[in-house]
Amino acid sequence: MNVLVTGGAGYIGSVVVEELLSTGGKVVVVDDLSKGHRNAVPDQVAFVEGNIRDHQLMKEILIENQIEAVVHMAASSLVGESVKLPDKYFDNNVTAAKAMLDAMRVTGVNKIVFSSTAAVYGEPKRQPITESDALAPTNPYGASKLEFERELQRQRDEYGLVFTSLRYFNAAGATSRCGEQHDPETHLIPIVLQAAMGQIPSVGIFGDDYLTPDGTCVRDYIHVRDLARAHVLALKDLDGSKTYNLGCGGDGYSVRQVINAACDITGRKITETIMARREGDPAVLIASSEKIRRELGWEPEFQDLGVIIRSAWTWTIAPGKRVSHSM
Ligand code: UFG
Repeated sequence: MNVLVTGGAGYIGSVVVEELLSTGGKVVVVDDLSKGHRNAVPDQVAFVEGNIRDHQLMKEILIENQIEAVVHMAASSLVGESVKLPDKYFDNNVTAAKAMLDAMRVTGVNKIVFSSTAAVYGEPKRQPITESDALAPTNPYGASKLEFERELQRQRDEYGLVFTSLRYFNAAGATSRCGEQHDPETHLIPIVLQAAMGQIPSVGIFGDDYLTPDGTCVRDYIHVRDLARAHVLALKDLDGSKTYNLGCGGDGYSVRQVINAACDITGRKITETIMARREGDPAVLIASSEKIRRELGWEPEFQDLGVIIRSAWTWTIAPGKRVSHSM
């Protein structure tokens, strides 16, 4: 299958590209490099630097490469930033993405796998979260992703669009090539590893007064390679309209558990500082991934937090670090 990956030079996108290549498909990447890195895209992949809202460019890419399906990952994706800059999130995640859907429609490409998020659930009433639970985002990031999910449903009804939405929980970890490093960094695991490296004096814990076992927020961390494999399965199965959670389930891990595990793995002292809660953060987000396990046969291989952090640490301290990413 000929697949276009939007945002394929980003952290998760580049690992999805690695997985797609390993299955032997033709892969094309479009990325405006506002966050992604050109060198994250392997040489055998056709790369186009451009923005998904460029209708003419998108039509050309879709036609010239005889694209059969799109994996749409190009987006703004930081919860905290979205609270400060909501317009940016609706513009990039809804308006630009709709322009891309228009290009798909006029070129007859009607299959898409969409990177959605656990943030569509907001502050859920029960855990683990299933796909049919209430959708009530508590931040503009989640609201923008939900709005685009609804656009996909609308275009399914109007034009027969075929889609799968994958609601990611907390992507983490690294492959031997690709790891996570943003500028500025906001995600917990890279920040904890920066503290382990002595690059920052301490890790700020955003609130220790949540109703969780140790008072800090609990998240469901999923290895980026497991996440990427789900895209390959979703592409093979594209038929109708489907929505799947993507997390490992279980009890999740608190911010403190992440810091403690990183201390053990790195053998370094990591100092913590309690700070105010970060606006828009739900206390607990844990996936039920029963549906994707049952319907697509997906199973996480690297669900242990230690394995996830070790892969990120190995990448972080690698001499002549390979590829760093911003999504
Ligand atoms: N945290 C800290 N200190 C930090 C950074 C993070 O205490 O310096 C806490 C956050 O408050 C949160 C947890 O660590 O409780 C994880 O935070 P991240 O910023 O790493 O990730 P988020 O849970 O905010 O968001 C991520 C993705 C979103 C996705 C969400 C779904 O960035 O795209 O997971 O669970 F929607």
